[in-house]
Order: sequence, then C-alpha cells, then structure tokens
Amino acid sequence: MPDNSSKVTAIVGAQWGDEGKGKITDFFAGEADFVVRFHGGNNAGHTVIVDGDTYKLHLIPSGVLYEYPTSIIGNGVVIDPAALINEINYLKDKGVNPKLKISDRAHVIMPYHIEMDIALTKHQGKLAAGSTKRGIAPVYGDKMYRHGIRMIDLTEPDVFSEKLDKAYSFNQTVIEAFGHSIELNKKSIYEQYIEYGKILSPYISDVSVDLFNAHKKGASILFEGAQGISLDVDHGVYPHTTSSNTVAGHVAAGTGVSFRDIHRIIGVTKAYLSRVGQSPLPTELSGVEAETLREKGGEYGTTTGRPRRVGWLDLVQVRQAVRTNGLTEIALTKLDILSGFSSLPVCHSYKIDSKEVKEMPASLSQFRTAEPIYETLEGWGELTPDMIEKGFNTLPNTLQTYVQYIEDQVDCPVSIISMGPQRHETIIR
Ligand code: GDP
Ligand code: IMO
Ligand code: MG
Repeated sequence: MPDNSSKVTAIVGAQWGDEGKGKITDFFAGEADFVVRFHGGNNAGHTVIVDGDTYKLHLIPSGVLYEYPTSIIGNGVVIDPAALINEINYLKDKGVNPKLKISDRAHVIMPYHIEMDIALTKHQGKLAAGSTKRGIAPVYGDKMYRHGIRMIDLTEPDVFSEKLDKAYSFNQTVIEAFGHSIELNKKSIYEQYIEYGKILSPYISDVSVDLFNAHKKGASILFEGAQGISLDVDHGVYPHTTSSNTVAGHVAAGTGVSFRDIHRIIGVTKAYLSRVGQSPLPTELSGVEAETLREKGGEYGTTTGRPRRVGWLDLVQVRQAVRTNGLTEIALTKLDILSGFSSLPVCHSYKIDSKEVKEMPASLSQFRTAEPIYETLEGWGELTPDMIEKGFNTLPNTLQTYVQYIEDQVDCPVSIISMGPQRHETIIR
C-alpha cells in the first residue's frame, strides 16, 4: 500500500520529463484529498494505465482516475481552454467525471501564442528547445510582460476585451515582424473565448484559499510536477528548457500553498534517459542501441508523438535534481525496460576541458562539449510479476547494485521501484 503518512507530497521530474510522473502520481493519489498541478501546461503528457485502460493526461492531474480526490489546476499552470475542454470530454467519454477546480489566476493560452511559438522556434534556430508548439513560452512571456489573460478574465467580458486588445496587438506586431502573417481574427477569438469561459466557469475558483482551508483541517495534498529538472527555466539546460520552474520549490508560487508545508518530495527518475526536443545530450545513444531502447521502452512523446532521444542514465543531472528540489526520495521507473542488457553504463560525471565535473555546468559551451564518464554495471535478466509481490530483496542482485550505486552517487534513497506501467507494478522499499 502507498505510504502516505506525510500529508503534503510533491512529485517532480528528475531528468528531461517523461520519467513516469503520471504513473507515480496515480500510485499515490488514491490516498490524497487533492491532487494538484502547479506549473506547465498541455506541453505535458502523462500516461496512466489502470486495469489495462490507458489514459493520456495533459492538464488534469493524474489523480483524476480515483473517485475521491479533487483535481486542482493551480495558478502556475497555463491553460489552453480548448485543450482542457477536450480533456474533460475525453475523460467523460471514458466514464471518468473529473472533480475539478481551476485557479482563477491561471494564465490562458491564446491562439496567437501558438503562432508566436512557431515563429519563435524558427527564429531561435540552433538555440531553440524544439518546443511542443503549445504556446508555452509566449504565454509565460505575456504573463511577465503583464498583459496576459487569466481564467477569471474569460468570465468578465469588459475586462477581457480591454486586455485582449493590448495582448493581441503586441503579439500581432511581433509575429508580423518575424515575417509571419497572422491569420487570426480578434473578434472571433473574443467570442470563442467568452464561450470557453462560460463552459469552464463552474470549475473556476480561488484554489489557493480552497487548499489553505482544506490543509488547515488536515487534508492531504499531492502535487504533480510536469517536465523535469533539465527543462526548468532556471536550473535546466537554458535555453533548451521549457518556460516554467519545474522544481518542487515552485509549488508555493504555483498554487499559493506555502513550501513550509511540504513534507515529502519524490523525484521520478527513469532508469535510463529520454529526451524529446533539442539540446546537447551527453549520454545519448545512436544507431541500433538507441533503436532497441526506444522500441523496448515505447519512447514516443505522449503529447507530440515525436520519437524520444534515448541515452544512459545521467547522474550529474539527477544529482542536481536531488539538490535543487530537496528530494527526500527517488522513484526509479522503467527498470523492466533495462532487462536483458548485459552491461549498463551509468554516467556519474562529465569530462569538460580535461577536468572531471560532478555538477551541471551553467555554461552552454561547456555543456556542448561535456563527455560522459561512465561506471559500467552488470545488467539483469527478465523481471517476473512474483518479484513485485515478494519485494525489493528478491530482485536480481545486479539490479539491487544498480539502485545502490545511484543512491551512493546522488546521496538520496530510492524508495520506490517501478517495473511496469501499471499501477500495481510498483515496489515500495
Ligand atoms: P510523465 O510525463 O513523466 O508522466 O511520463 P510519460 O507518461 O510521458 O512517459 C512515461 C511512459 O512510461 C508512459 O508510457 C508510462 O506508461 C510508462 N511507464 C511508467 N513507468 C513505467 C515502468 O516502470 N515500466 C514501463 N515499462 N513503463 C513505465
Ligand atoms: P512531461 O510533463 C518531455 C520539452 C520540449 C522542448 C522543451 C520546451 O510529459 O514530462 P515547450 O513546449 O515547453 O516550450 O518545450 O521542453 N518538453 C517536454 N519534454 N516531457 C514534457 O512534459 C515536456 N514538456 C516540454 O520537447 O524541448
Ligand atoms: Mg510525459
């Protein structure tokens, strides 16, 4: 059974996203009162498999598949209303009726943000991150410029019109300066988004106050991160990042629940590495080895369907995730996918300018030249379902050594072992 004795838990990505946060969140969500997204938008794609049914979630937290917990989208999340309405309908079609609340302060992704995302990516060329084209950088940009549109605005036609005038003309000017023609119509955007506001208004609430009051009464809260540490806009491999903070510390800013209240911080870490998008990737595999791992791990993006780049586990990255998130533990996923490899290189440091480096460099030129320094560990054979029942000590010794090596290198306990995509394919140590 999940140990949920600590009442406020954050689950975050310790790599490049797609570590299995959805699966681990779902595993713990059954005992939570609230499951809360605190940043990112529908650039995220979280897959949860329950009783053989697959659910792909982008905005709604992965606790939604249980009847009891309330799903919350915090103010730090950016919302494409059309995508959210589609996701609500997708879940309803599958027999799931989301118990959902959306922050009135969450910023809204507008059609011009998506146009701007395309124009920006083209303009940035080699420095681009290879975005999901969901409008993420432009919506967070508008938030910081302070002409963004928030969920509450969609319910106030006069304010919305006033704000849309400013935001539209700003975005139109920049998009056209990039040489793109903007084939959008402000009036129809206005009408469409007022309509979205009507559909979504029953869900809109001051969720910071809701969470505060519930927490005071002892409610348990599970925060679900999106993306991962190397995509964090401050700590990640900038500018090949997303535009939000993925670190657990952002829970406070992204929901209004104080970081003082978080007891448990779980960093989800894939037993190898995958990356969708553009950036240097020191431990990247190529050729047949990459193909084999990608196919075996089903490494295709949940959001865009792009093939994910794959590589060996990079502990320089995980070490940074432990430190910057204050991880109390690691959930190590996809160990089943590594079965059958005779040996498993694990990167513990980089060689940069002939020096051994243990921490992620801020310098892009250094990161571009970083060479992984590996310790090669012995692989293991097939994992069988009875091992889940019998627990960690019955797993192959070589797998146990792999786990212990990670713990020693990054100084954090691996308390959760995931060896399959289904909820029950999980071992708590
Ligand atoms: P997220 O974005 O971090 O939630 O991860 P994604 O859902 O995008 O990608 C992780 C993929 O791995 C999904 O297809 C999951 O169903 C799957 N998955 C998660 N944990 C495991 C595991 O331990 N073993 C296997 N084989 N698949 C897993
Ligand atoms: P989850 O929550 C993997 C990547 C994109 C790109 C960069 C910037 O499923 O782990 P953006 O659209 O945010 O401007 O893209 O970030 N990216 C992700 N990669 N998993 C994700 O989310 C991602 N969300 C964004 O590929 O490199
Ligand atoms: Mg994903």
